Amino acid sequence: MRILGIETSCDETAAAVYDAEKGLLGHAIYSQEAHSAYGGVVPELASRDHVRKAIPLIEQALLEAKSSAEDITGVAFTAGPGLAGALLVGACIGRSIGFAWNVPTIGVHHLEGHLLAPMLESNPPVFPFVALLVSGGHTQLIKVARFGVYELLGESVDDAVGEAFDKTAKLLNLGYPGGAALAELAKKGDPHRFHFPRPMIDRPGLDFSFSGLKTFAANTITQFPLLDEPTRADIARAFQDAVVETLLVKCRRALRLTGWKTLVVAGGVGANWALRSALEKMVSLENSSVYFPRQVFCTDNAAMIAYVGCQRLLAGEQNSLAIQVYPRWPLTAIPITPQDANFKR
Ligand code: KG4
Ligand code: ZN
Repeated sequence: MRILGIETSCDETAAAVYDAEKGLLGHAIYSQEAHSAYGGVVPELASRDHVRKAIPLIEQALLEAKSSAEDITGVAFTAGPGLAGALLVGACIGRSIGFAWNVPTIGVHHLEGHLLAPMLESNPPVFPFVALLVSGGHTQLIKVARFGVYELLGESVDDAVGEAFDKTAKLLNLGYPGGAALAELAKKGDPHRFHFPRPMIDRPGLDFSFSGLKTFAANTITQFPLLDEPTRADIARAFQDAVVETLLVKCRRALRLTGWKTLVVAGGVGANWALRSALEKMVSLENSSVYFPRQVFCTDNAAMIAYVGCQRLLAGEQNSLAIQVYPRWPLTAIPITPQDANFKR
């Protein structure tokens, strides 16, 4: 089975080809630039850019995969959650290609894609595991018993961690989305100059709260009318250290609570250098392991969508001819695949 995957849920347009036997054969991503001037994603601009870029990216991924229409046996596209117009572009293109090429199609849950992105690596995690999903829209700890069986352990009660990174980055004049730029700036920061609070770590449970950290950053910044470069770096460092320690404490708690020994980190913030090294140290002390996708598959991509689509099509699922998207779609509401499904990596 060879699957063409399409991702258009937000501001990345992406296509990929995944083969059940051979693994990932090709992928292409375009990160839309039109939004940075507006300080956030403009849904209409995102949809228009997806319309322009999706077909050329599909052609590019097929070329890289040395595959033609005849080699493709199924099409997967992101069906939600995400921006309705943006999702519809991928769904219309995916469903139409499936119809034209006479192959089954499947709408994939974007977060299931993120969650299972580490499966694309040569040393993938083994079920069951605890997953930390840290993206621009979500911060969740999820119990993954097996493919398709997800139980929410905790989540952010306000801002997602990526959102907190982006808002703080904006306050530091780092553009949008500024999470990666903030992480880069933090490398030069003094970890001892400022101390930011670690929200909710003293409370029981596995929920998070990040909006207070952004406010703390705003209040710190207003103390410096002339915000020099070292001060910006020190604030970035203090903010990042607080986020990382908060995530670490909750991940360790989730591992101890479940008794499971494997942690998987997914989503855009999973690319963060400080988070990666702190979690690596923590799991070694806990006699556990942590798995990350490679950097390019932490953020939005179509390889993860093609992978999940492949597993679900192999399990016998497929969509009707109707083109449907689900802008709001809880991860725990996706269909549970049969236990004996013929999963392939
Ligand atoms: O998963 P993703 O690509 O899109 C969503 O589905 O949300 O995540 C994007 C988020 C943005 O908030 C971005 O600033 C953040 O991930 N991000 C980072 C880093 N790289 C991307 N945050 C912190 N450190 C990074 N290195
Ligand atoms: Zn995402």
